[in-house]
Amino acid sequence: MAAILSRYPADRKRAAMLPALRLVQEMKGYLTPETLALVAERLGVAPAAAGEVATFYTMLRVTPVGRYVIDLCTNVSCSLCGGERLLRHLERRLGVPVGGTTPDGKFTLREVECLASCGTAPVLQLNEEYHERLTPETVDALLDSLP
Ligand code: FES
Repeated sequence: MAAILSRYPADRKRAAMLPALRLVQEMKGYLTPETLALVAERLGVAPAAAGEVATFYTMLRVTPVGRYVIDLCTNVSCSLCGGERLLRHLERRLGVPVGGTTPDGKFTLREVECLASCGTAPVLQLNEEYHERLTPETVDALLDSLP
């Protein structure tokens, strides 16, 4: 946290909000009310300000998630290229609905808005990595390749 804060002027610590929240999420898996309050205190803002940022960005998580988070885009381009079909396929394959986590804690499936890779639709983000031009078969191969 100190390294992140050192990159910002002392009177603008609030600007470190996103990297600070990402760091805490990386360490803890998701952002609890306690960790949000801790970050807010370090940045000199109200806890609600950290909560607002944490709930605005889909890359930040305020609930427990699986080891692999699958964010499947079903916005216009992805939907036109089979995104909805992929979503149903993933629900069947994982045995959980959108927003669910598999009982073994391995996967969390989420439906997200545009991932800004419309030209390579349909797209999903697996943790930090994009996978593009997907089909049910390539999705299956991707899931099968994960330890
Ligand atoms: S619509 Fe899916 S990446 Fe833009």
